[in-house]
Amino acid sequence: MSSLFEIRGLRSAIEGKEILKGLDLKIGGGQVHAIMGPNGTGKSTLASSIMGHPKYEVTDGEVLLEGEDVLEMGVDERALNGLFLAMQYPSEITGVTNADFLRSAINARRGEGNEISLIKFVRLMEGKMKELEMNPEFMHRYLNEGFSGGEKKRNEILQMMMLDPKLVILDEIDSGLDIDALKIVAAGVNAMRSEERSFLIITHYQRLLNYIKPDFVHVMMQGRIVKSGGPELAERLEAEGYDWVKEELGIVDETVGQA
Ligand SMILES: Nc1ncnc2c1ncn2[C@@H]1O[C@H](COP(=O)(O)OP(=O)(O)OP(=O)(O)O)[C@@H](O)[C@H]1O
Ligand SMILES: [Mg+2]
Repeated sequence: MSSLFEIRGLRSAIEGKEILKGLDLKIGGGQVHAIMGPNGTGKSTLASSIMGHPKYEVTDGEVLLEGEDVLEMGVDERALNGLFLAMQYPSEITGVTNADFLRSAINARRGEGNEISLIKFVRLMEGKMKELEMNPEFMHRYLNEGFSGGEKKRNEILQMMMLDPKLVILDEIDSGLDIDALKIVAAGVNAMRSEERSFLIITHYQRLLNYIKPDFVHVMMQGRIVKSGGPELAERLEAEGYDWVKEELGIVDETVGQA
């Protein structure tokens, strides 16, 4: 089977400091991959580099979505081609309502002359918000402004559901969610699982993976993936922490190091 998404030897730097140091990852269609790893090992940098965040300079490697060169695409183009990131820290945008934002994003993807009608859009958004048990008022609130931590996370999942992406990256979607919200968000993700869509889930806690069963679990240290396994790897990390991985691989400092 050819992979839906593939990263080869990715190197990425910020302000001249290299964070990703030759990262390889292959994700097949329909698969869920989880990335775990200690703080400051480059997980969010990976997400931002894939999405084309302008602060991160990719210096080497390849990123392919269905065989297409992602690194050649502009930021907008990446989203249009089906990459989606639910951010660890979503930004607040005053003056743009949640509905405005999502409608423009959907229409950008559908293209000129094929815009979604207002009625259809509202019905779609209301339906998804209901699934996520969100208060209807969030439709007309400014994007993330004054949202609680958990409300922001739920709203990221709303965006994912509305935009119908091919590769979904969730960066610590479980942080800040209460137990009921975690179940609702996981149900939203599980409802989106299909052969045509893949997931990359960054998390610190095995608990999320009880609700969203991953096919593969990877450990990130020093800006690359150093160990991969199945769901049992996450269970062992939860129980024992990371010291055994470091010992096994002879790693002393797991962070990306100083400049
Ligand atoms: N804009 C930036 N300026 C300076 N350093 C940065 C910047 N972004 C990332 N870094 C550094 O890169 C390293 C990796 O950061 P990153 O956010 O990718 O880690 P992470 O694995 O997501 O950690 P966490 O689990 O805490 O979210 C850190 O040392 C961080 O300080
Ligand atoms: Mg992070």
